[in-house]
Amino acid sequence: MYLGLDLGTSGLRALLLDETGDILGSASQAYGVQNPHPGWSEQDPADWTAAITATTAQLRAEFPRQFAALRAIAVSGHMHGATLIGADGAVLRPCILWNDTRSHLQAAALDASPNVRALSGNIVFPGFTAPKLLWVEQNEPEIFRHIDKVLLPAAYANFWLTGRAVADMSDSAGTSWLDVGARDWSAPLLDAGHMRRDQMPDLVEGSAPAGTLRADLADAWGVARDVIVTGGAGDNAASACGVGALAEGQGFVSLGTSGVLLAARAGYHPLPASAVHTFCHAIPETWYQMGVILSATDSLNWLARITGQKPAALSAALGDSLQPPAATQFLPYLSGERTPHNDAKTRGAFLGLDVATDTADLTRAVMTGVAFALRDCLGALTQTGANLQTVLAIGGGTASPYWVRLLATVLDMPLALPVAGDFGAALGAARLAQCGATGATPRTVMTAPAIDRVITPDASQTQAYADAYQTYRAAYPAIKDIP
Ligand code: XUL
Repeated sequence: MYLGLDLGTSGLRALLLDETGDILGSASQAYGVQNPHPGWSEQDPADWTAAITATTAQLRAEFPRQFAALRAIAVSGHMHGATLIGADGAVLRPCILWNDTRSHLQAAALDASPNVRALSGNIVFPGFTAPKLLWVEQNEPEIFRHIDKVLLPAAYANFWLTGRAVADMSDSAGTSWLDVGARDWSAPLLDAGHMRRDQMPDLVEGSAPAGTLRADLADAWGVARDVIVTGGAGDNAASACGVGALAEGQGFVSLGTSGVLLAARAGYHPLPASAVHTFCHAIPETWYQMGVILSATDSLNWLARITGQKPAALSAALGDSLQPPAATQFLPYLSGERTPHNDAKTRGAFLGLDVATDTADLTRAVMTGVAFALRDCLGALTQTGANLQTVLAIGGGTASPYWVRLLATVLDMPLALPVAGDFGAALGAARLAQCGATGATPRTVMTAPAIDRVITPDASQTQAYADAYQTYRAAYPAIKDIP
């Protein structure tokens, strides 16, 4: 039995996998995000560990015999968060999350420092970990002086489970302290971030053992004393393990709150200027690159809120067949944008509104704007040399057949929709645990899910959408300097 824990932004999901890699069951528990000031986004790590305790208790109650045979655990975590630990192992302040923007000035300064992009392979985005620590140094010096270790959320869970400070490569790649090509902490990057190597956790690959479950937890859970905890992963790498995106040409597009277009890479091909993220994969000698847009289903949810309708109703009103590009354009920058603009200050826009524009036109505009933003990500990924061949479509937005067809047409590539079910980051984490316990090669364990159907581009519309995309591309430069 293998346990995958997906420590997400809105809750934790625990998934139990049997010896053959089949899913036995899962349990989840929600928790909140605290926003004590505008732009701040924090969580109490005690909420994560309470959720681990509650979900494992539920799995034990449902599957007592199987849970008792647990061999390994791995954790997937939301990336970039800073959990600060004192010498006694106590948490010094709430974790500062990936979507916290308080350190945008520190991020810009670090990003402009010599060699930082070259060594980390990435832009220092405002959500990354290193600028958060510069903010703490400047604003909470007393806490900064007491930091013994900085742990990402998944690494904090590893620490709680094993007593050892160990992080995996894929998550550590999002700190701006890691030499992503060399898969090791970088002395110059740590210097630039005013941190020391002894404040960093030890590094292991996601599928390699990080430690064994604390004896008191093993006894409380009724499992063996030698249960392995492997390195785990950042959530995007874990999702890639869950859908079998490991090799060159394989990837996924995710229509979640934010949108992601991810390509697995056999080598290290950084291109920070494209605002693509280049991170280590959770398996050895592999990387991945992804474009990230900040408002995907968030854009449709916003339209649903202000029109007083449900997102599913907005989508259903468009019918089944893809319509030509709307005359109205939507720029989906409701929370700024990462790829390709790296612009935290820009905001969304509708262009080309008409007295005749109705709600359905706005829905088409919003869905098209999100698809075009992901087309921008594809362009940026292509510049790095990535050549996506097999792309799965995942995330809540794929419940809209219209949106998936539109996206396939805009990207001009077939999109495979998996059968409904339990995959993603929790499954990816459980598979990392399975590899760690059995020594199995990731490629044999991390297979693609069964495909329900493949949505192909609407060939009669690809040219019209390619033309409309050029109009979309012209819009951002035209509006970006308008305050
Ligand atoms: C990736 C990123 C998000 C978080 C939260 O760079 O910021 O995907 O990992 O899910």
